[in-house]
Amino acid sequence: MSSMGRGKVILLGEHAVVYGVPAIAAGLGRGVSASASPANETTLECSPWGTRHGLASDEDLGRALSAVVAAHPSAPLPPLRVSADVALPAGAGLGCSAALGVAVIRALDAAVAHVASDAEVAERALAWEQVFHGNASGLDNTMAAHGGVASYVRGEPLEALDVRRPLRLVIGNSDESSSTRTMVESVARQRERDPERFAKNLDAIATLVKNARLALEAGDTRALGQLMDLNQALLSAWFLSTTALEDMCRAARDAGAAGAKLTGAGGGGCMIALVESDETSAAVIAALEALGFSAFEAEAG
Ligand code: MEV
Repeated sequence: MSSMGRGKVILLGEHAVVYGVPAIAAGLGRGVSASASPANETTLECSPWGTRHGLASDEDLGRALSAVVAAHPSAPLPPLRVSADVALPAGAGLGCSAALGVAVIRALDAAVAHVASDAEVAERALAWEQVFHGNASGLDNTMAAHGGVASYVRGEPLEALDVRRPLRLVIGNSDESSSTRTMVESVARQRERDPERFAKNLDAIATLVKNARLALEAGDTRALGQLMDLNQALLSAWFLSTTALEDMCRAARDAGAAGAKLTGAGGGGCMIALVESDETSAAVIAALEALGFSAFEAEAG
C-alpha cells in the first residue's frame, strides 16, 4: 500500500509566515507516494531521480531520513527499504520536500502498523523540513499532511477555510530551481538591515492575507486576484521575484487571470494565476506556453 504526501501552493503570505503572519495555502492533488518493505538496511530510494540514501549518508535526504527514523514513536524501527515516487518538481515552490517527508513518515508508519493523525504526521515532518529549510515555518509539512484550503499561523493548528467557490489555479513553472533555505535567509538579512521597513512590509502582507480570507469566504474571485497581485508586489520588494516570474505574471493577467503571483520561496520556481473559467484557464496556459514555460491547471484544495 502506498502512502501519500501532498504538494501545496501558497495563495498569500509566504515568507511573512516565518515571522508569525498567517498564510493561506491550498493542497494539490499531486504529490509524493511512498511504501516501505523489510530489508537488510534502511534506505530511501526516490524515483524518477534515481537516488538512494542510507542512514549514514551526510546528504540532506539521508540526514532527513535519519531524523524521522530516529524520532519514530516505535523506534528502534526494523530495517526498511522506502521507495518514493515523486510527482512534483523539486525546488519549484510546490512543497516537494515536505510532501516527500510526509509520504516517507506515512510509509514508515504503515510498515510498523503505527496509526497517526494528520496533525501528528505534520509535527514529525517538521524535523524532516528543518534539514532542508533551516528556519521552516511549518507550513509546508502541515499542508503536505492535511491538504485542503487553509489558514496557517506558525506554531498553531491548521485552520480549514470555508471557501465559497472552488479555487481554479494555473501553475506556471519558470524552470529556475531555487533553494528555500537561501531565500528565507536572504529575507532574514533584509530584516536585520532595515527592521522598520521590514515590519511595514510584514504589516501590509498581514492586511492582504486578512482580506484574502474574507474574499475566499465570500467567493469574490476578483478581489482575491487583486490581493494576490498586491502580495506579488510586496514579495518583489523583498527581491524574491525574477524576470521569468514577472513575465509569467504579466502574461497571465493579460490573458484574463484575476491575479497572479509567485508561490513559495521565490527566486525561481512557480507562479500561480487565479482563473474563473475554462476559457481563461486555456488562454493563460497558452500565453505561458507561448513564452516557453510549462503550465497546467492544478487540482487545488
Ligand atoms: C516555502 O514554501 C514557504 C516559506 O514561507 C518558508 C516557510 O514558510 O517555511 C518561504
